[in-house]
Amino acid sequence: MLPLIAPSLLAADFSNLSQEIDLVNQSEADWLHLDVMDGRFVPNITFGMLMVEAAKRMCTKPLDVHLMIVEPEKYIESFREAGADVISVHIEACPHLHRTLQQIRATGAKAGVAVNPHTSVSLLEDVLEDLDLVCLMSVNPGFGGQKFIYRTLEKTRELKRMITERNLSVQIEIDGGVGLQNASALLSAGADVLVAGSSVFKAKDPSQAIHQLKQCGQESLLV
Ligand code: DX5
Ligand code: ZN
Repeated sequence: MLPLIAPSLLAADFSNLSQEIDLVNQSEADWLHLDVMDGRFVPNITFGMLMVEAAKRMCTKPLDVHLMIVEPEKYIESFREAGADVISVHIEACPHLHRTLQQIRATGAKAGVAVNPHTSVSLLEDVLEDLDLVCLMSVNPGFGGQKFIYRTLEKTRELKRMITERNLSVQIEIDGGVGLQNASALLSAGADVLVAGSSVFKAKDPSQAIHQLKQCGQESLLV
């Protein structure tokens, strides 16, 4: 199976969003990744549902909304109405994660949970059945363009084992510092979805960068 590629809009040119999104539309990308930050859960502020709604009008691919916010349960229905197809909340921001995941699924969106670099994937044991996707953060969330944390490879293998043992189809998404230098290793470790901000939008030819990331899937099959 080829990986899903989800370019992250965070690294795009915000003065030219319709062209940037059009580029994604015309490319082999599978989803568009949208990073919502509140300046509380993470030390940065980006955008909210108005941007998701605008992206929905421009984008022909599913919207993968990554909520880096406290109390995400207050806004799940609004993000769904704005057009989110996948909604990921942070485990570290959800004291009642099981309830929040049910809430996401009740809207019809895919339910995702994002996991910070310091958080063990073993904490997902009791909600694995309630999940459609796990977003493993391979940088500390808050900013694009950071260095990939290599421990993520081992976490990916561990999580893949947990999912396979229980015969589930939860997707593993990797977010942060992903590019050609680590994509094949991540896919061999069990990743299904690669989020790529800088490595796509800062590339000379973003469509080609997306194509090359997709090709890494074929290489990882040969390993
Ligand atoms: C970081 C965000 C990422 C970010 C990735 O907090 O969750 O989605 O956009 O950007 P790169 O690919 O540049 O690390
Ligand atoms: Zn993200």
